Amino acid sequence: VILASAHLSSGKSVPKADDDDEFLYGVFPDDFRWGFATASYQIEGGWAEDGKGPNNWDNFTHSVPSPIADGSTGDIACDSYHKYKEDVQLLKNIGADYYRFSVSWSRVLPDGTIPGGINQAGLQYYNNLIDELIANNIEPMITLYHWDLPQALQDKGGWVNEAIVQDFQAYAALLYTSFGDRVKKWITFNEAYVFCQQGYGDGVHAPGYKLTATEPYKCIHNVLKSHALAYRLYQNQFKPIQNGTCGITIDSGWYEPKDPNNPADVEAALRAVTFKHGWLAFPVYTGDYPPVMRQFIDRKSEQEGREESRLPVFTEEWKQLLKGSSDFLGLNHYTTELVESVSRADPGWHGDQDTQTSQDPSWPESASSWLRVVPFGFRRLLVWIKETYGNPLVYVTENGFSDDHSVGLNDDKRVDYYRSYINNMLKAVLKDGCNIKSYTAWSLMDNFEWARGYAERFGVHFVDYDSPERTRTPKKSAGELAKIFAENGFPA
Ligand code: NOJ
Repeated sequence: VILASAHLSSGKSVPKADDDDEFLYGVFPDDFRWGFATASYQIEGGWAEDGKGPNNWDNFTHSVPSPIADGSTGDIACDSYHKYKEDVQLLKNIGADYYRFSVSWSRVLPDGTIPGGINQAGLQYYNNLIDELIANNIEPMITLYHWDLPQALQDKGGWVNEAIVQDFQAYAALLYTSFGDRVKKWITFNEAYVFCQQGYGDGVHAPGYKLTATEPYKCIHNVLKSHALAYRLYQNQFKPIQNGTCGITIDSGWYEPKDPNNPADVEAALRAVTFKHGWLAFPVYTGDYPPVMRQFIDRKSEQEGREESRLPVFTEEWKQLLKGSSDFLGLNHYTTELVESVSRADPGWHGDQDTQTSQDPSWPESASSWLRVVPFGFRRLLVWIKETYGNPLVYVTENGFSDDHSVGLNDDKRVDYYRSYINNMLKAVLKDGCNIKSYTAWSLMDNFEWARGYAERFGVHFVDYDSPERTRTPKKSAGELAKIFAENGFPA
């Protein structure tokens, strides 16, 4: 019932702005867990070592002229391929309960497929990391896909070629088989919205395709099918023996109506969050895309004179495989946008929802153009998720703030960001009854920020890219998070 009406919901139990200002002293339930996240391409380096195959990000960053803001690559990055033991000590020093990292597909399967050969040295790297984590009492949480695709699969079209669904399933089986005795938390995909939109729509991420009208929809469609098969494989064949859980990580900002007194803007804001979060999450919870997406994109496609909607259709069989395909909802959240209702004629997915977004210039900035600090938006999104999907188990799998190298170790703005965002999550748990069980800070250390290169820093450890050792030094925020983790919140 809630799902069917989510795109028109009045949002009446969303907290009001005046609840938000006061800091809440209190702690999270005893079973709440704290951790850090990273991703293979952003930290590992070792791009051509020990039999690793090339991937789409190797190719993209090596292309001339460079598509990366500072001309950099992830060839060395934080050198975690050699420094993983030190990374584990950083986690231990802060008191992390778990570590969310991703596997580089082409490190374990150089051409992306099992017949192409398994790279034992690649498996060994992750075995070593997992064993080191467990020896230090830190739980491993693996993301199967955080944007680095074997180039051989990219050459066949990557995520817009449906054949990838089978390749992903075989890759997932290899990881469950190799690591599942020790790894009990699996995330199939990280932020499909971003890599499908930036990589296949806007061309600013690998593989750099600018094919705006249809490809992001195809990309997500194949990601969802891949997710469903990888989830069912775990559920049916591995879970009964290995006893872990499997889910997906979906990113979303919060969307506020630009003019809260204008019903068209209120509806546009709900449409925006539904198009963004619901694009992935509705299929996972209900088996199909949100009704409002179907309605808008079918209509636009018809106006464009197409015979078929740009939003693909799931067969009954796929709907059944998708529905209920997540043991938990992984959520990445950073910021909030204002939404206006506008009528748009531009072809392609940018104009499909008839909205225009912006940010309030009074919201504090970060080093990332898209990221302004709006702590109450986190709470509102968490409440929206609770109401829309029936209070699912949520793991916050990323949240964080960027600055640049001039800030150095005294990262007071990051300290404020973490305190205020985590405090709003505390309100969502204690006051709104949201079922959130873990919080992951992005990131353990500064790393390769995709199209922005090393210019934007998200770490609680400063990485010195001028030193061959890639020296890591704790920032003020590392100490602040150590305290919040140890105290399980903000005791009075
Ligand atoms: C989302 C992505 O998952 C991660 O790779 C990225 O570095 C952060 N957000 C910050 O933009």
